[in-house]
Amino acid sequence: MNLTINNQKISLGLPENSTLLSLLRDELGLSGPKLGCGEGECGACMVLVDGRPQTSCNLPLWSVQDHQVTTLEGLGKAGQPHALQKVFIEENAGQCGYCLSGILVSASALLQQTPQPTRAQICEALDKHLCRCGAHERIIRAVERAAQA
Ligand code: FES
Repeated sequence: MNLTINNQKISLGLPENSTLLSLLRDELGLSGPKLGCGEGECGACMVLVDGRPQTSCNLPLWSVQDHQVTTLEGLGKAGQPHALQKVFIEENAGQCGYCLSGILVSASALLQQTPQPTRAQICEALDKHLCRCGAHERIIRAVERAAQA
């Protein structure tokens, strides 16, 4: 099958019952998307599929054939961080950081579609993400600041 990951076209032959998260982490070594609940409930594994946030732990690999996938690694690079990543660091928005890559991916999709979101729109966009450290307020503030930048 063929798909594009972080703007790189790849071809592979993997079992159809593999998940996208398994491909990303186990085969390609992309550690941005995390395995949390494994059931599509926590958002730790969030990626963009054709620009839309999707949990990858429960997404069958066959379903992304010929689609474009973006992970945290596709948002920014060391030395060239995404605007959201800069502000998240400035706001100290992460605590343990486990949920952050998924949140950054969802927030980037929000700002792409809605450059000046309201607080309610930010909360709605991040509704699928669990942060067990309770850093929600700092996370929301960071997204608001990134939108203003
Ligand atoms: Fe995929 Fe929790 S690990 S939603």
